Amino acid sequence: MNNILEIDKLKIVYRKRKKDFLALDCVNLQLKKGEVLGIVGESGSGKSTLGLSVMRLLPPQAKIQNGNIYFKGQNICKIQEGKFNKEMRGKEITYIPQNPQNSLNPVFTVGRQLKDIIRYRAKDNLDNQSIDEKAVEIMTEMGIADAEKRLDEYPHQFSGGMKQRVLLSMAFVTNPTLLIADEPTTALDVTVEAQILGLLADLIEEYQSSIIYITHDLGVVSEIADRVAVFYAGRVIEINNRYNIFNKPKHPYTEALIECLPGDKKQKKLTVIPGEIPDLSDLPSGCNFHPRCKYAKEKCKKEIPNLFQVDENGKSACFYHEEVGR
Ligand SMILES: Nc1ncnc2c1ncn2[C@@H]1O[C@H](COP(=O)(O)OP(=O)(O)OP(=O)(O)O)[C@@H](O)[C@H]1O
Ligand code: SF4
Ligand SMILES: [Mg+2]
Repeated sequence: MNNILEIDKLKIVYRKRKKDFLALDCVNLQLKKGEVLGIVGESGSGKSTLGLSVMRLLPPQAKIQNGNIYFKGQNICKIQEGKFNKEMRGKEITYIPQNPQNSLNPVFTVGRQLKDIIRYRAKDNLDNQSIDEKAVEIMTEMGIADAEKRLDEYPHQFSGGMKQRVLLSMAFVTNPTLLIADEPTTALDVTVEAQILGLLADLIEEYQSSIIYITHDLGVVSEIADRVAVFYAGRVIEINNRYNIFNKPKHPYTEALIECLPGDKKQKKLTVIPGEIPDLSDLPSGCNFHPRCKYAKEKCKKEIPNLFQVDENGKSACFYHEEVGR
């Protein structure tokens, strides 16, 4: 079995105010060992819903209406919660949630939180002294100076970048097969973001974990991902290797995202594609992107494009993908 993760025709809705909001629709993704898959899309495109579904942490108002998620060949939608929590969540599959600044518990020291993970989640059954040593070792590896002393400090005593290093310690200390990182650097300033991305690149090489890296920032995935899946209104609208996504986009939305990328990387938000992501309870007919698409034709208002193979590696959900970039 070659793929660590296989997501098969996943469809998820949120039930709100007696309406269904289609957050993910017919999502198919595969991830190989050691591969970094970047997930990119505007706010509300379903990126976090995807990450939460793999962690089985979706809120109660979310329903998986169709599809399956296979981790190392096992259908995790069918595993009992107790077994999933004991064997996979936080061990084999780890997670850096969106807004990591708030994801450390303010009332416990950083050391207590990290050591609990080593005690209850790491594969080895370590005694207390070895747990202490492992905590110092991993914090030092993540670039936290004076780790022994800092373990006794509380989260509010850490800067944003240092908190992120603590979360990376927690995510990597179990030597996970799969890490899902949801916008891990969005809240950081540009210099710290660059340091954390550099650290993450080293960790990827060392640990050989597969990574789903979620971000709204195409500039970030250009530095870190092997392959990139572009999401629009809950669908994968283009997927390809990093080189082809950036140099030969085959979907008008991807092309527009790239045009929004500032040359000097000072601007961080993708804000200049005209129009807005559609209302997920009342999606446009045909291709969801047609109200914003400069290539749209009559057919686009009536028919939903499937993913077409556009080259050896990539697919695009556009009837007119051959016209893009000409
Ligand atoms: N807990 C929830 N309850 C109801 N609807 C939700 C919930 N979480 C997300 N949604 C809706 O599902 C859709 C997808 O949200 P999701 O958070 O997955 O998007 P995202 O791509 O991660 O966005 P962002 O870039 O803002 O984090 C949005 O329309 C959102 O409003
Ligand atoms: S199918 Fe039509 S509307 Fe959709 S992206 Fe392609 S050209 Fe644009
Ligand atoms: Mg999100």
